[in-house]
Amino acid sequence: MTESTKSATLSLDGNDYDLPIYSPTAGPDVLDIRKLYAQAGVFTYDPGFTSTASCDSTITFIDGEKGVLLHRGYPIDQLAGKSHYLEVCFLLLYGYLPTANELEKFETTITRHTMLHEQMTYFFRGFRRDAHPMAIMVGVVGAMSAFYHDSTDINDPHQREIASHRLIAKMPTIAAWAYKFSIGQPFVYPRNDMDYASNFLRMCFAVPAEEYQVNPILSRAMDRIFTLHADHEQNASTSTVRLASSSGANPFACIAAGIACLWGPAHGGANQACLEMLKEIGTPDRIPEFIARAKDKNDPFRLMGFGHRVYKNFDPRATVMKQSADEVLDLLGVENNPVLATAKALEEAALADPYFADKKLFPNVDFYSGIILEAMGFPTSMFTPIFALSRTVGWISQWKEQLDDPAHKIGRPRQLYLGETLRDYVDIENR
Ligand code: CMC
Repeated sequence: MTESTKSATLSLDGNDYDLPIYSPTAGPDVLDIRKLYAQAGVFTYDPGFTSTASCDSTITFIDGEKGVLLHRGYPIDQLAGKSHYLEVCFLLLYGYLPTANELEKFETTITRHTMLHEQMTYFFRGFRRDAHPMAIMVGVVGAMSAFYHDSTDINDPHQREIASHRLIAKMPTIAAWAYKFSIGQPFVYPRNDMDYASNFLRMCFAVPAEEYQVNPILSRAMDRIFTLHADHEQNASTSTVRLASSSGANPFACIAAGIACLWGPAHGGANQACLEMLKEIGTPDRIPEFIARAKDKNDPFRLMGFGHRVYKNFDPRATVMKQSADEVLDLLGVENNPVLATAKALEEAALADPYFADKKLFPNVDFYSGIILEAMGFPTSMFTPIFALSRTVGWISQWKEQLDDPAHKIGRPRQLYLGETLRDYVDIENR
């Protein structure tokens, strides 16, 4: 925690209260209100945390006005262009870019943890075949605490480390098996001679009946999608993981909580919802109708893949994703993809509309990712599981950072109570 350099004064009922102000290395100053209730007897009110810093962190920085996203200081476009997912995982977890030896060791460790306990196959088999893969992931990741007891002691740094590696390594196997189960195909086991993204593609698309060659173009695109989703500061699912962890819950339970939160259509579920929306629009001539619906206060419809709590400018991940969509479809020889054409026309129409301009609503990471994933052969139901597996490293890095902070305490928000005050119980015959 940094030292306060200045303070603000709150005047309330004739008393003055000094609130320390911290200056971050980047971003707006932060007012420390931790002693406010003890000193002044008032709470602050901020549903949705629009003005509240819930923790201090050194992992990821976003400047929403400028459209900047940095992991440990490195811009996302450089990481997406020059690095690869496992190197970014190392960076997020340990705070610096690894040497060649460190990276090799880390990659070997992750590779050696990709298998699941064989007994876990029965967990998958217990689900209905039509279960959403996210439902399976929430269940199976939560169940990991029943299989990996030797890495659930959060007070042991070694166990914390092993749990981190296990989660990053096993998540692709879990996501791929959730998919395989849903289509009635046998589980494909991970292979140690393949890189992280290729291994995932193989576990999703190989069948025992014939050889499967991973297309290096798809593998690179997959790795880039993982990288673009790796972490995103204190978003809803990350905050969920931190809150779950604040009670001392084990890492597998915390990550299962994060997956559950990510599933919602306002968060990670937006990629599935966005592709479904683009298909429903169908052709560019129907765009005005959907834009009108998105602007109509009486219609709950929103343009999926548009808008962001923090970005009030282009989401830098969307810029890379759009380029990637063009490249992947081009390299796969997909010409005149109608969904991509609709997406581009919709983006152009929305950006030219004063409603979206005034509210600073721009395409977010989910706007183009579904198009790439579909071109790779994934059904829409797999989009959010892929987001979850990519984000696991972010959740784990933030979880680790929280536990490494000796001052961490249980999260316990307060409330503005507007309910009934004390009243006497009324017997049922008198109601
Ligand atoms: N379409 C139409 N209007 C919108 C949209 C949209 N996609 N997003 C926000 N607005 C309007 C909203 O109606 C509100 O208008 P008004 O001020 O007149 O009431 C204003 O913009 C501010 O919206 P908000 O809901 O108060 O903003 P928020 O910061 O709470 O919500 C959001 C952010 C991402 C939930 C929202 O923009 C949204 O629902 N977008 C669609 C879902 C989506 O694409 N989510 C993925 C986010 S990026 C990936 C991730 O984080 O998982």
